[in-house]
Amino acid sequence: MAKAEKTCFICTKCGAVHDKWYGRCKECGEWTTLEEQAVIKPAKKSSSPVPTAGVGAMRLSDAPDKGESEQRLRTNIPEFDRALGGGIVKGSVILLSGEPGIGKSTLLLQICDSLEDQKILYVSGEESFMQIKMRASRLGVVSDSLFVYCENDLEKIEAQIDAVSPDLVIVDSIQTVSSDRFSSSPGSITQVRECSGYLIGLSKRGGFATVLVGHVNKDGAIAGPKLLEHMVDVVLYFEGERGDSYRVIRAAKNRYGSTNEIGLFEMCDRGLAEVPDPSKRLLEDSPKNIPGSCPVCLMEGTRPIVAEVQALVSKTPFPSPKRLSSGVDYNRMAMILAVLEKRLGMRFFDMDVYLNVIGGLKLDETAADLGIACALISCVRDVPLSGKLIAVGEIGLSGECRSVGSAEARISESARLGFDTAIVSHRTKLKTAPDGMKIVRVKSVFELAEFLNGLKKV
Ligand code: TYD
Ligand code: MG
Repeated sequence: MAKAEKTCFICTKCGAVHDKWYGRCKECGEWTTLEEQAVIKPAKKSSSPVPTAGVGAMRLSDAPDKGESEQRLRTNIPEFDRALGGGIVKGSVILLSGEPGIGKSTLLLQICDSLEDQKILYVSGEESFMQIKMRASRLGVVSDSLFVYCENDLEKIEAQIDAVSPDLVIVDSIQTVSSDRFSSSPGSITQVRECSGYLIGLSKRGGFATVLVGHVNKDGAIAGPKLLEHMVDVVLYFEGERGDSYRVIRAAKNRYGSTNEIGLFEMCDRGLAEVPDPSKRLLEDSPKNIPGSCPVCLMEGTRPIVAEVQALVSKTPFPSPKRLSSGVDYNRMAMILAVLEKRLGMRFFDMDVYLNVIGGLKLDETAADLGIACALISCVRDVPLSGKLIAVGEIGLSGECRSVGSAEARISESARLGFDTAIVSHRTKLKTAPDGMKIVRVKSVFELAEFLNGLKKV
């Protein structure tokens, strides 16, 4: 066991290290988050995760030019590969985090099955062998090259890695792994950080990929220091609304690819199923001829996704009206309401306003502004929009409509899904419009309201 020389204070929120106790973390400003930890001399073996450490400087051009494709393990689950930028890179360390019960263990077991030609060591510190066996039979996992090891002790895990010599190691979860070498209690920040560092070192030296499962705490941050995110190569967040079957996997950091791409899954009775055509699925149940609803097109990485935004505006007897938004940024909603109020003379000051995006998606793009405005106008006037109309564009404070990126991709996706009218900014550059798609160009919210008025007369 390494000898604890002295203690330090680590913030449980941001991982900042302080030499003495403070009521408030000097780094993130959070109150009473400092926890006393022993300062441990790291074991020699875990000193550097870089396999070539100590070799000296090398000429970059002398490095062998290995094609990236041959270094990646393709999981045959395209939605997962897409989020990773094309599969798991050999020797890389991935941190997969998400709330309890979201489906992390389920997804990983399914990945084990789809990587059946690779040797995998699945280390579980949370479930027993029988529990995993039962889940595997439920999911139909029959891989011969999957080894399951239920253990919490770091040294025993290392021994099994040496014995099995796997291509991929899964540690479910990193918070349950501990070592006697570090004197703090299992699950503490020091244990999580040191055990992760050790496993990362093993992975880099051994050339096998590692997936560490990390729990998130109630604030949504990965429990344990933020440092963990700096140490790994890829950070994946597995997200989803409670009570909703859709699950989104999103890369927050990726040393081997873009962080824009997402993978979409649905939790079924036999595990996670991919959703290859998300827009179609999201629009399936949308009600027809109901005022206050308008489809918008978002870009999730390079993929356009059509989602429906719904607005409900109702008179309130109370002096301060309610503003509630789900899936739409609260400040963006307030801004659009203010623009409509000021530029179009619409009245919201005595109205409760609710905004919702179907399917638990989040509209974090300004391209949804026009759609939100259409939904609000339609609800206030109590006139349903045509089910085949879509709006793509940003709204500025003076009520002007601005163009957004990837307009062409958004409009072709909408055309594919059967939309026949697209409201866009007058500045939107389109080389060609898809067949049968009418492009309505508007300069301002005033022109938008006029166009929607015209629809009423039809
Ligand atoms: P799990 O993978 O254990 O979550 P995590 O590892 O993130 O804590 O998923 C558990 C949830 O998934 C559980 O509440 C039930 C649901 N589930 C299904 O709906 N269908 C299935 O086939 C499986 C295996 C789980
Ligand atoms: Mg689990």
